[in-house]
Formats: sequence, C-alpha cells, structure tokens
Amino acid sequence: MTDTDRVEAALESVVPPADTEYYGGIYWNSYAEVIRYMNRRVSGDDDVDCWDCFSRQTGRTFRKALIINCGNGWVERALIERGIIESAVGIDVMPELIADARASAGHLPVQYQVADTNRAEFPDGFDLVVNYAAFHHIAYLDRVLRRCCELLPDDGILVNWDYVGPHRNQYGYEAWSHVHLVNQQLPEGIRQDFVYPHLPTMLVADPTEAVHSELILPVTRRYFDIDVYRSIGGAIAYPLLTHNQAMADADPEERSRWIAHVLEADARWGGGDLFAFYYGHPRKAALRSAGKLESWRIEEEERERAGVSNGGKYYELSVLQDLTQRLCDAEVARDHARISLADTQAENELLRNENERLHAVGVARAASMILRRRSPRLHRAMRSLIRRPSGPPA
Ligand SMILES: C[S@@+](CC[C@H](N)C(=O)[O-])C[C@H]1O[C@@H](n2cnc3c(N)ncnc32)[C@H](O)[C@@H]1O
Repeated sequence: MTDTDRVEAALESVVPPADTEYYGGIYWNSYAEVIRYMNRRVSGDDDVDCWDCFSRQTGRTFRKALIINCGNGWVERALIERGIIESAVGIDVMPELIADARASAGHLPVQYQVADTNRAEFPDGFDLVVNYAAFHHIAYLDRVLRRCCELLPDDGILVNWDYVGPHRNQYGYEAWSHVHLVNQQLPEGIRQDFVYPHLPTMLVADPTEAVHSELILPVTRRYFDIDVYRSIGGAIAYPLLTHNQAMADADPEERSRWIAHVLEADARWGGGDLFAFYYGHPRKAALRSAGKLESWRIEEEERERAGVSNGGKYYELSVLQDLTQRLCDAEVARDHARISLADTQAENELLRNENERLHAVGVARAASMILRRRSPRLHRAMRSLIRRPSGPPA
C-alpha cells in the first residue's frame, strides 16, 4: 500500500492509519516539571492533578463514564482507582490499544469497544463523559458532542483535557516567532530542532491529528455550559519540549533548569494557549433548536466531504505553512539535483576511461600499420611475439 493509498483509506472515515504510534516519543508532559506546571495551572497546587481537582470541586462519584478514544485505558483505570467513577465504557478505533486496555483493566468494571468515534452510536446510561486528548482527533465534533449532550442526564458532566490550539499545529506567526526566540535562549546542545509542522507529512503520519482542534471549544459551547475552565498553556513549552531528543538526553540538572526557563516563558506568553482543562453540564435546550441543529449537521457533513476529496486539507495554508512547503520542495529539488549531478559525474568518468582505452588502442593500431609498411619483417616478428602464448619457460 502506498502512502497515498494509506492516507485515502484513513480519510474515508478520518481514522488513524493502522501503524500509528500513540505512546512513543517524548512529549512536553513527559517531564515532572511540566506535570507540576500543569497541575498548578489547573488546581493552584503542584501536587493536585486535574482529576483530583475535578473530584474535589464536584464532590461527586460517577456511576458510569464513557471514555472517548480511551487509547491504552490509563484514564479510566486512574478514575476507578481514585474512586471518582464506579465503572466505564472505553471506545477507541485501534484494536491493539483496546486489547492493551482490556488486559491492563483485569477485573476492573470496564467494558471496551473498538469503534470509530466519528460514526459510533453511543448508548445511553452514562453520567460522565471523559475526553482526554481525544477530541482533537475527531472530525465530526458536532455529531459527537451533540450525542454526548443527548446521552447525559441534566446533572451529567462532560470533562475535558485537550489540545485546543490551531488545527494541525499551524501556529501563528507571532507565537512561532516567540517559540523561536526562546529556543535561541537555550544552550545550543539542548535546542529544539526547529521545524514548522509540515502539513503533507502530518497527513501521511496521522490524518486525525489536530484535525479541527480549534473548533473543540466553540462546538462544545453549542451543547454544554462550561462550569470551570482552566488554560494549561503550552504555546511555548509544547513545541519546544515535545520530540526534543537533545533536551531529553541532557544532564538532568541542566535540563531541569532550562525546562524551568521554558515554562516561565510559557506562563508569561499572553497570545493564546494550546491546552485546556474544563468541564460542564449539557444544555438540553440546544437540542430543541431544530433549525440550528440541521444547519450545523449540513455544515459539518459538507466540510468533511470537501476535506476527504481534498486529501485531508480543510483550510487555507497559513503563510508559515506555505513557506515551509516551498522550503521543503526546494530541499527535495536540491537533493535530486545533487543525485543527478553525482550520476552525471560517474557517467563522465566512465566515458573518459573508455575514451582513453579507445585512444590507446587507436595509437597501437596506427603504430602497427606504419611498422608493416616500413618494415614488414620486423612487423611479422612483433606480431608473432605478441601472439605467442605466455607460459612458463620450457
Ligand atoms: C492522543 S491519543 C489519546 C488516548 C487516550 N485518551 C490517552 O489519553 O492516553 C488519541 C487516541 O484517539 C484514538 N482515535 C483517533 N481517531 C479515532 C477515531 N476516529 N475513533 C476512535 N478513536 C480514535 C487513537 O487511537 C488514540 O488512542
């Protein structure tokens, strides 16, 4: 299967290609410093994470939670183990992840289902819906969030932790310039390899990645009243720390010092954040606006049809993306030119050798003809010498 076939197959329903890796690599929240920073932003306390904060604020235990795109299942296990939920149903499109989740759940009261969230028919009976880093992979946000609103009771809750920044990580010029500036402040050995997210590469790797991330909040607000909203930041720290192998390999003390520097810059940044934690109640009145519901449905279906027929590209290219693609294309063209120059040089070398050989043969022939004309006897003698088989002296 070619890359194009893979992408087309994945786009048909906007699901990740079967070989997508979700739990490898270095992310910004791989570091304890970042976890404390996130906790502080959510709960005001370095040691209280979003789940404990949610549990304390709501003061509730939930009977049954629907875990959207549950991946390897760590979220529902954590929620059950902390007594925040009694049971859960996890859905995810990747059979291997569901198998891992099932194996790790053991006897915990969790059921799993392999399903494409964009198309899944969620059953009723939940009093909590959990989205942890899931909605930014969902193309049919209106359909899914509307269904969440329908299935939750009035006092049910939707709780979210997610990337809500620009689609496909297409950061704006101002934010990206600032990321660049902070990167330059880091010692050379631990700087991020500074590459703007290249859209064609992202589409091949995982066409679900941040597909409509900046629509998550506005679409959530169509169907939910948000009770608590906390920005978790990330505009500077996420692009600088995620997949930064040099930082991961650095001496722990030095790394810790520079992560703190990056997080200070992240906290100071006032131009819009990438991650958020929030929860809210279903606004059932939204389900009675038949005209609006129909127009949102049509808008979403048309957008998705257009996106699929356009190879997963939904939006105009930003200036930075346009420049990035031109630069990449120019680099590919340069590499091709280098290869064809090397081929031409090798071919030239062959021709020169052949030419020299022919020239040498030509000179020998000419000498032989002159000798035959001037001294046939000597010529015969020479030829017999040349033809005499070589071998050991008798
Ligand atoms: C970033 S991971 C998060 C997983 C999990 N919530 C966690 O926090 O570990 C995104 C998950 O979305 C799943 N996913 C992507 N597109 C999906 C779809 N259309 N339907 C169901 N799951 C999907 C992936 O398989 C992956 O498990």
